[in-house]
Amino acid sequence: MEVPAGFLIVSLLLSCFVASSYGVYFSSLNATLSVTATPTQGQVLKAGEDQITVTWGFNQTYPVGTDSSYKTIKVKLCYAPISQKDRKWRKTVDLLKKDKTCPHKIVARPYAASNNSFTWTVERDIPSATYFVRAFAFNAQDEQVAYGQTTNAHKSTNLFEVQAITGRHTSLDIASICFSAFSVVSLAGFFYMEKRKGKASK
Ligand SMILES: *[C@@H]1O[C@H](CO)[C@@H](O)[C@H](O)[C@H]1NC(C)=O
Ligand SMILES: *[C@@H]1O[C@H](CO)[C@@H](O)[C@H](O)[C@H]1NC(C)=O
Ligand SMILES: *[C@@H]1O[C@H](CO)[C@@H](O)[C@H](O)[C@H]1NC(C)=O
Repeated sequence: MEVPAGFLIVSLLLSCFVASSYGVYFSSLNATLSVTATPTQGQVLKAGEDQITVTWGFNQTYPVGTDSSYKTIKVKLCYAPISQKDRKWRKTVDLLKKDKTCPHKIVARPYAASNNSFTWTVERDIPSATYFVRAFAFNAQDEQVAYGQTTNAHKSTNLFEVQAITGRHTSLDIASICFSAFSVVSLAGFFYMEKRKGKASK
């Protein structure tokens, strides 16, 4: 039997389209995880210094066994809407593969229904912004199957801020290093001159 080339091309294109459009949508996930984090509403954390302790587990109000496919948990730091405004590179997209809400990984762990906690020092490269914490449960195929977050569905409560390192110490640090270097050099120069003067007068 002969298969027309046109048919082959069309089906090839179609399968590519299906493959690329396949993915998990955030709106299809159930919020079966309870997630809490230590920062209080409006707290300002310093990148590179301050810590966040995240606690997560299965919300027991969901039926027993709902979590039977959960294999791993990934906890992430996510941008609040106010810090996504006019920033396409942080945009929320329902198709999770393209979502840019939660680019900062905090920790990944095998799934356990309870007693999960992790303390994280806000990494030095985290930019200044308003954040919340979200955890995703993944199945054995590494697809998102559930989530939980520290804020409400509208991402308007329990938000905290991170203050980046840039512009905080750095310029001051550089100034003080230069100043110390300058004082060491001038002190050395001063002693050298004194010694020469001493020799000359002998
Ligand atoms: C979410 O919960 C509903 C109702 O409990 C269930 O039918 C659906 O399969 C769940 N979705 C996922 C992705 O687990
Ligand atoms: C657990 O889920 C129920 C129903 O969605 C919700 O009302 C409750 O606040 C959740 N509990 C926690 C600790 O997240
Ligand atoms: C969680 O921790 C408590 C106290 O450490 C312990 O009693 C309990 O058995 C633990 N639960 C699970 C499911 O590991």
